[in-house]
Amino acid sequence: MKLVFATNNPNKLSEIQSLVPDGIEILSLKEINCNEELPETNPTLKGNALQKAKYVFDNYGFNCFADDTGLEVDAINGEPGVYSARYAGEDCKAEDNMKKVLQKLKGKTNRTSKFRTVIALIIDGKETLFEGECKGSITRNKSGVEGFGYDPIFTPNGCNLTFAEMNKDEKGAISHRSKAVKELVAFLYR
Ligand code: IMP
Repeated sequence: MKLVFATNNPNKLSEIQSLVPDGIEILSLKEINCNEELPETNPTLKGNALQKAKYVFDNYGFNCFADDTGLEVDAINGEPGVYSARYAGEDCKAEDNMKKVLQKLKGKTNRTSKFRTVIALIIDGKETLFEGECKGSITRNKSGVEGFGYDPIFTPNGCNLTFAEMNKDEKGAISHRSKAVKELVAFLYR
C-alpha cells in the first residue's frame, strides 16, 4: 500500500517512516512533485489536518494523510495549541517559540502540558481521523538536541529526559504522534 504523507517537515517524515510497518510505503510530497506550502488556516488541529490531506488528495490525486500537532500548556490556557507553529510570530523559529513558552511560564509552578496530534487520512475520498496525546511537563530550561520543535522543553510523564534527549525510537515508544499512527495502522489492517 502506498500513502503520501502530506508534510513539508522532514523530522515528521522521518518519525513516521520509522513507525509504520514495511507493508505501508510512505511517499513524501517531493516524490509526487508537490513542492508547495500546504494551506493550514483552520482554528482546530482536526480542521488543519483535514485541510492539508484534502489539498493533496484534490490536487494530486493520491491517497494520503496529514498530521497537525499542538502543544497545550495548562497554566496559559492551552496555549500555544493550534498556533504552535507560529506562536512567536510569522517566520519564527523553534527557538523563538520555546523562548515565548518559557517566558510565559516564568514564576509559575504548574508546568503541566500535553502534545496532541490529529491525523487525517483520505483513501479514495473517504476521510478518517485519528488522535494521540502525550502528557508531560514544561522544563525550566531547554535540554537536548534530538527531535524538533518544542522537544527540548518537554518531559513526558514518567520520564526524566526531554524528548530532545531521547533517540527516535525512545520518543517513538511514547509520543503523541506514535499513538495516532498506531490507530492509523490498526485501521489500515482492520
Ligand atoms: P504542525 O503540526 O506542523 O503544524 O506543528 C505545529 C508546531 O508544533 C510546530 O512548531 C512544530 O515544530 C511543533 N511540533 C509538532 N510536532 C512536534 C513534536 O513531536 N515535538 C515537538 N514539537 C512539535
